[in-house]
Formats: sequence, C-alpha cells, structure tokens
Amino acid sequence: MIGNTLLERIESDVKIRPFIRKIKSYDENLYVHSTNVAYLTECIIDALGFPIRSKWDIVTGALLHDIGKTFLPFDLINKPSYLTGAEMAIVKNHPGIGYNLLKDFELGPVALDIVLHHHEDEIGEGYPHGSTDMFIETKIVSVCDKYEAIRSDRPYKNGYTHEQTMQALEYMFNRYTDIEEIKEIINSFENLQLAEGM
Ligand SMILES: [Fe+2]
Ligand SMILES: [Fe+2]
Repeated sequence: MIGNTLLERIESDVKIRPFIRKIKSYDENLYVHSTNVAYLTECIIDALGFPIRSKWDIVTGALLHDIGKTFLPFDLINKPSYLTGAEMAIVKNHPGIGYNLLKDFELGPVALDIVLHHHEDEIGEGYPHGSTDMFIETKIVSVCDKYEAIRSDRPYKNGYTHEQTMQALEYMFNRYTDIEEIKEIINSFENLQLAEGM
C-alpha cells in the first residue's frame, strides 16, 4: 500500500483493527480495494481542505465501506461474470449489513453515512433504500469507489486507463449535484499509483 500516515494510523487503531482483519481474511482483493478507496478519498479531502478533525471519520468510512460484503458468499462477491437478478438482490444487502455491524461502535455519523449510502444517488436509483439524501463525504467515497473498481485490474478483467475511467464515470457525475470540484480533482489523478490486488 502507498505510504500514508493517516490511513496507517486508522488501520492500526485498536477499535478499527478487528474490522480490517475481517476484510483481509475474507478477501485480500477486497482489502486492497478498500485501502485504495480510502487513499483516493484522502487525496480528495486534502485537496478540498477538509479540517483535520473530520478526516479520520471520512477515511475510516471509506476504508470500511464494503465490510458488509464479508458476510456474503465469497463466490458471489467474486463472480467473474454478470450477476443474475437474484444474486444482485443479495449483493445489494451489503451496505445495510455493514451499517448494522458498525452502528454500535464509536464511529461518527459521517462514517456510518458512507457505509450505508455509498451506492445511493440523488435521483433515487441506488441501493439499499433509493435514498436521495447523503453527505457530500459519501458522494466523494462513492465516486472513488467506482473510480477504483473501473481503473483496477481484477482477476476477471483488465483495468481501464485513467481517461477511459473518467469517461465511464460520466453517468455517475450526472447523478450528483455539488461535485464539479470533486470531478476536477479526480481528473488530476492520472499519475496516481493504486495498489494492485492478487
Ligand atoms: Fe459497496
Ligand atoms: Fe467498494
């Protein structure tokens, strides 16, 4: 993983460590995805000048956004082809599962919003609730999540170039308001090195 002190501090925090271990032992590739999304998120909130006190909560939410997947069958989460409707319905449970797992721990409201709403959009077509209301921090993580997924190699696909990824994300940029600046920042990530999975 790219050296990053805030991310390293969060990963080694006594409250967070068990969740990181859970993600790592479930799937090394999910761990790499999670740390890449957290790293991209931190780059954006740094560029936007977010205050240091709020960064911990945001980066923690980014790091744990997919923890709900660790409760779902590995073969389903890593299926190398399109999911059926029934399979997709199961996968769509992962934000709620993650939220229910984390809500009783001392995470801030922003981290919980990220975990629950990172697949929602402002036109109401996302999941799990079709909610149109989410924090700006959740929109940031949501964009970083899709950017990482499209840009990175997976066992079953080659990653896109930066330009191809930006084009593929265009549909998503239209689903959120107030993200022009975020789009510009992520567009400057051309030479950013992401960690690679297995
Ligand atoms: Fe997710
Ligand atoms: Fe994700």
